[in-house]
Amino acid sequence: MIEIVKLVINGKEHILPVIEGSEGEKAIDIRGLRQETGYITFDPGFGNTGTCRSAITYMDGEKGILRYRGFPIEQLAEHSTFVETAFLLITGELPTRKELTRTSVYLNDFSPLHENMKAFYQNYPPKAHPMGILSAMVNAMRSFYPELIDLEEEMNTTYLRLISKIRTMAAMAYRISQGERVVYPRSDLCYCANFLNMMFDNVVVPYKIDSDLVRALNVFWILHADHEQNCSTTAVRVVGSGKVNIYSTISAGISALWGPLHGGANQAVVNMLEKIYSDGFTVKECLSKAKDKNDPFRLYGFGHRVYKTYDPRAKIMKKICDIALSKMKRKDPLLEIAKRLEDAALNDSYFKEKNLYPNVDFYSGILLRAMGIPVNMFTVMFAIGRLPGWISQWKEDVADPEMRISRPRQIYSGSQKRDYIPIKDRGQSVKQ
Ligand code: SDX
Repeated sequence: MIEIVKLVINGKEHILPVIEGSEGEKAIDIRGLRQETGYITFDPGFGNTGTCRSAITYMDGEKGILRYRGFPIEQLAEHSTFVETAFLLITGELPTRKELTRTSVYLNDFSPLHENMKAFYQNYPPKAHPMGILSAMVNAMRSFYPELIDLEEEMNTTYLRLISKIRTMAAMAYRISQGERVVYPRSDLCYCANFLNMMFDNVVVPYKIDSDLVRALNVFWILHADHEQNCSTTAVRVVGSGKVNIYSTISAGISALWGPLHGGANQAVVNMLEKIYSDGFTVKECLSKAKDKNDPFRLYGFGHRVYKTYDPRAKIMKKICDIALSKMKRKDPLLEIAKRLEDAALNDSYFKEKNLYPNVDFYSGILLRAMGIPVNMFTVMFAIGRLPGWISQWKEDVADPEMRISRPRQIYSGSQKRDYIPIKDRGQSVKQ
């Protein structure tokens, strides 16, 4: 039976179709609403608005389910690698052995940066935030890598070039900010090991590749690879809908991710935990500030627009934190504080009533610290992981015949019509 919705406005009945997804999610199709009724809908932050159909990622916020192209995140975290997961998100299927080998070879071939890009890095102020540098340098890539004639080759080359070079860009920004020589990618190292080596290798003490850390980094980036229509992915789709090149589109996604309410939360979590550890800021104070409406402080790493239960990624992240630290025979006092904070919050009525649970950012910073990643690079690490997701969402958007340039409406709340006031008459009290 075809489901419909009846809308009665001023006694007139309007029939609206219902759309159903492959997991039974339903939406009221309002594409004809304004034309038929003169009304628009109102939904700041799009909490109740579907902006597209997508076959990439499925989330169930009530059950804590996350799947990439149908594969549960728990299985990918256990069995897959980041490069394989990136292939899955972008193409829709897991690669054959031959496809995976070919992809790895391309990623190696594309890993060096255009030498002239180095001059940009060398001229940034040393304290420049690496997210600002990354967003600018990804945007600059179109200038260094002009569009290829063959569209298919252009698209495939661009995806691989972006995924490969974003590591080199991130590591270069870090090395130059430290006044250290730039370490170039090596063809004998896999994707994650190459990144760690570019970050930490040095002539005095050559970096020793630790297979446990390489595995932990693969899982870290798998957990961050996509998350349906989050803030930065929406930015990618909106900017991409204007048909600008993919580099500028991804650059917009990086900028959107930077904010502390989104990808910047992982840096904010560690800053919060360090305040508790070094400033004697207690867990109790932390929770009461988070609950105080007059205090802008939030319990970073907690809460989520979609998950109203434990973020499945946070569960896995917490586990790999424990494993990585115990294998490295290291204790991180911040991990113990994080666990105490989580226990306190999960047993606090405010957080329970509002369904506030740890999200992916709550433990991710602890793992990055264990790898030696500096705090101001945490959100860059999130961006490297999310890149395949942004690419897959952009690719789906540009290929979707239903998609048009993004141009929402508004409810105007400003002054009604009024006449120009000559400057000599201004300043008297005018009726608003
Ligand atoms: C990511 O969308 C995604 O998928 C994002 C992401 C991805 O992979 O792309 O999962 C990555 O961004 C994770 C979220 C990281 N951000 C943080 O950890 C920052 C702290 N969290 C909050 O700012 C908040 O929970 C958000 C931004 C994550 C969600 O915001 P919403 O959905 O707009 O919820 P809200 O702000 O309207 O909060 C609802 C209520 C409010 O109280 P009331 O006004 O109803 O009384 O819950 C309260 C909020 O004050 N609340 C919090 C809180 N989060 C929500 N109170 C204290 N501490 C918090 N962390």
